[in-house]
Amino acid sequence: MIFKESIFDGKVILVTGGGTGIGKAIAREFTKLGGDVIIASRKEENLIKTSKEIEQETGKQVTYHQMNVRQEDSVREVFKKIEKDKGRLDILVNNAGANFLSLSEELSVKGWNAIIETILLGTFLCSKYACQIMKENNGGIIINIGATTGIFGSPFALPSATGKAGLEGLTKTLAAEWGRYNIRVNLVAPGLVWTEGFVKNVGATESLLENIKKNTPRGIVVEPEDIAWAVIFLASPAARAINGITLIVDGGHYFAKGFGIEM
Ligand SMILES: NC(=O)c1ccc[n+]([C@@H]2O[C@H](COP(=O)([O-])OP(=O)(O)OC[C@H]3O[C@@H](n4cnc5c(N)ncnc54)[C@H](OP(=O)(O)O)[C@@H]3O)[C@@H](O)[C@H]2O)c1
Repeated sequence: MIFKESIFDGKVILVTGGGTGIGKAIAREFTKLGGDVIIASRKEENLIKTSKEIEQETGKQVTYHQMNVRQEDSVREVFKKIEKDKGRLDILVNNAGANFLSLSEELSVKGWNAIIETILLGTFLCSKYACQIMKENNGGIIINIGATTGIFGSPFALPSATGKAGLEGLTKTLAAEWGRYNIRVNLVAPGLVWTEGFVKNVGATESLLENIKKNTPRGIVVEPEDIAWAVIFLASPAARAINGITLIVDGGHYFAKGFGIEM
């Protein structure tokens, strides 16, 4: 355990997309550290399975709500329930995301909207309703999950790379604007993380994984827990003065190739 076990005691924490992959790891780590965690996404079966799993592991209750981040009514409803049931919200992790591969010249408007809305509209809506609760409670912390593809680009993943790039502007803007409410906003940008969702969305193969290992300093493969620990750090008092940044968590993968000079 890197952090003190009681560090998030009494804190109410919402993780969107918390039923699977990276979101599940974030929800688990916050629960272990004392947080009163809520997970929310569309598929109830994943939410039930994950909340039970974390409860068995930690002995602490995890609440879940079905929510579609692309639909304002659904988001508004869930934040109303949180305010009614818990009376506060201290930390929001905007982790819900989606991706698929396509040649950009063949990408449909439907495909573009599905991804852009999940990433940008979803993060905007959840942040908006979180702020309305947080500002009444003397502040809060918002952490958005971006991607290194939003910084460096990603051929065949245009809407996802564009949406994640947009999250940088959203993060910096809200960090500046909501300082008046004592709300900090930061972005964590994972590189490739081998989750079921990633493998399914992009049809990833073992050879891609080997390639990543080969091109990442120390041959490191980034795990969902690595992203969770970065989120935990940004949500902790140790990050009191960190606001509006992008924290890349990719083991140095993107920088490793440099100019391609080998010696
Ligand atoms: N894995 C990687 O290599 C990688 C790299 C960089 C960034 N990321 C980012 O990390 C986050 C988690 O990804 P992951 O790899 O853990 O994949 P994942 O397991 O597929 O997670 C995506 C989550 O988002 C939820 N979601 C999707 N659309 C939603 C909607 N409209 N409303 C509410 N929830 C929705 C999904 O739940 P439901 O289906 O139940 O709604 C799911 O739990 C994403 O933002 C992703 O872009 C991942």
